Amino acid sequence: MMPSFPLVSFLITLMLAAAVCTQGKEYVRDAAGNYVQTYDEYYIQPVNTKNNGGGLVPAVVKQVPFCPLGINQDLQKGQPGQPVRFIYPYPLMKTPISIMETVIIEFTSKDLPCKEFSGLWEVDESSSASDEPAILIGGEQLGNNSWFRIERAEDVIGANVYKLTTLTGTIGYIPGPWKGAPQLVLTNDTANTLLVIFKKVNDATKAPTSTSRVEKFGLRMFPFY
Ligand SMILES: *[C@@H]1O[C@H](CO)[C@@H](O)[C@H](O)[C@H]1NC(C)=O
Ligand SMILES: *[C@@H]1O[C@H](CO)[C@@H](O)[C@H](O)[C@H]1NC(C)=O
Repeated sequence: MMPSFPLVSFLITLMLAAAVCTQGKEYVRDAAGNYVQTYDEYYIQPVNTKNNGGGLVPAVVKQVPFCPLGINQDLQKGQPGQPVRFIYPYPLMKTPISIMETVIIEFTSKDLPCKEFSGLWEVDESSSASDEPAILIGGEQLGNNSWFRIERAEDVIGANVYKLTTLTGTIGYIPGPWKGAPQLVLTNDTANTLLVIFKKVNDATKAPTSTSRVEKFGLRMFPFY
């Protein structure tokens, strides 16, 4: 027996509803096309800063005091960046992250200077913050200035390229104090919106935490020494 018309239209409605729901829950994907999951480690790598540099790293963005650190793109091509993980403000099981969901971004390295500060990203809300406040490291899990969202870059079709936003704006980049390396700030200047991909850290590519690596990392982070 053929399905009656009301049944067909009911099924179509159901399918449309499912499509809408799936759209509402579009998951973020890494550069290999896999879901980006909470607790896994990723390198965040800019794709549109035109300087052909590497991934995002903690960096000194002001001289005195130099803590808390800010975030720069590594000027050296091929440097993957420092691993981050995404977590929710409240502890949950490991799960894929959806577009527009509130997440916290944390540098996971145990070797970061400024030990009194956390590895969590935050928007600088200090009174000395400029019109384009810096993204700093040292946030708090329940502070709403540490809440970020991953949004699709509308102009880029067919690639897993994203932009990062906060409750108050979009992350972009300006020439930073360290050799003009792109520095992350909140900005309304859409010409400077930062577009990024997420590369999953796998243990084979993750450099061992040898002394030499720490020293090299330290030197690049402390250009004023
Ligand atoms: C963030 O939290 C503060 C203090 O709880 C509140 O005053 C502020 O309105 C919040 N900001 C946003 C954008 O929700
Ligand atoms: C962006 O624009 C909004 C609305 O004009 C303003 O409230 C906000 O402070 C601006 N943010 C930045 C980072 O310029």
